[in-house]
Amino acid sequence: MPTTDEAVAQAALDTQTGPTSPTAADSGASASASFRSTEQYSSAGLTTDTARVDALARALLGAVHQVISDHEVTYPEFQAAKKWLMDVGEGGEWPLFLDVFVEHAVEEVAARKQTGTVGTILGPYYLPGQVQLTTPATLPARPDEAGTPLAFRGQVTDTTGAPVPGAVLDIWQADEQGYYSGFAPDIPAGNLRGVVTADVEGRFEIRTIQPAPYQVPTDGPTGALISAAGWHPWRPAHLHLLVSAPGRRTVTTQLYFAGGEYLDSDVAEAVKPELVLDPTDVGDGSREVTYDFVLEDA
Ligand code: BEZ
Ligand code: FE
Repeated sequence: MPTTDEAVAQAALDTQTGPTSPTAADSGASASASFRSTEQYSSAGLTTDTARVDALARALLGAVHQVISDHEVTYPEFQAAKKWLMDVGEGGEWPLFLDVFVEHAVEEVAARKQTGTVGTILGPYYLPGQVQLTTPATLPARPDEAGTPLAFRGQVTDTTGAPVPGAVLDIWQADEQGYYSGFAPDIPAGNLRGVVTADVEGRFEIRTIQPAPYQVPTDGPTGALISAAGWHPWRPAHLHLLVSAPGRRTVTTQLYFAGGEYLDSDVAEAVKPELVLDPTDVGDGSREVTYDFVLEDA
């Protein structure tokens, strides 16, 4: 028998239509559409602080000029770069490209002033407004969802160790093929996504499946660069989380899996050692793991 949460989650899957993107490259374009609908997009604009714009633009262009000089970049290479930059824009892949190759550096700067649970990149595949669940919760999944079942438990506390009642864990992940609902074809909207409210002691239990590694789409310009440079396009398997509570700074993070592929070579350079889970086998084919979150004051 499904629990009330499971019934709510299934109903959410039943009433939403799935994505129609037919190719891997479309996940980049979907990421652009998704970013356009966010508050961060609406509020983004060039700062009015001229000195700051001058400093950043001058430093950025200076770094580009230095690379051209050091590596004796030729006219054909310059034109190839122009074409590739146009392709990234026309393919809607700027959010994808920037989240793969640049976001980690911005996050590392932000982290210098943070305490509590270590954060990492958000990435382009967050979708707000997912089904609301209460602990113990089961993420919405297809009836035949493949993958090793995982029970993910823990407690949310403040920096003194006091429980944070009713903390909220917004969680999303790829499936056992490494695909995200909302960005890949044939996966119901809301699959393996949910917003879980913890109990009065900040404790939570979330039942899901262990995700697979994620591959940056190889058929668009971001993938073309990765392949032209001889890199690999993989991120290690991970769970995404936004952990929040009133009066606390929201932690944006990801949890990885010990022993998993690409932990040491994440294309997005977002793995941190504090964020690696080591689930234990329960004996019935499923796994379980505990991870506690610490939220600092806002
Ligand atoms: C991800 O976490 O899934 C992700 C991060 C950066 C770029 C693409 C995907
Ligand atoms: Fe991800």
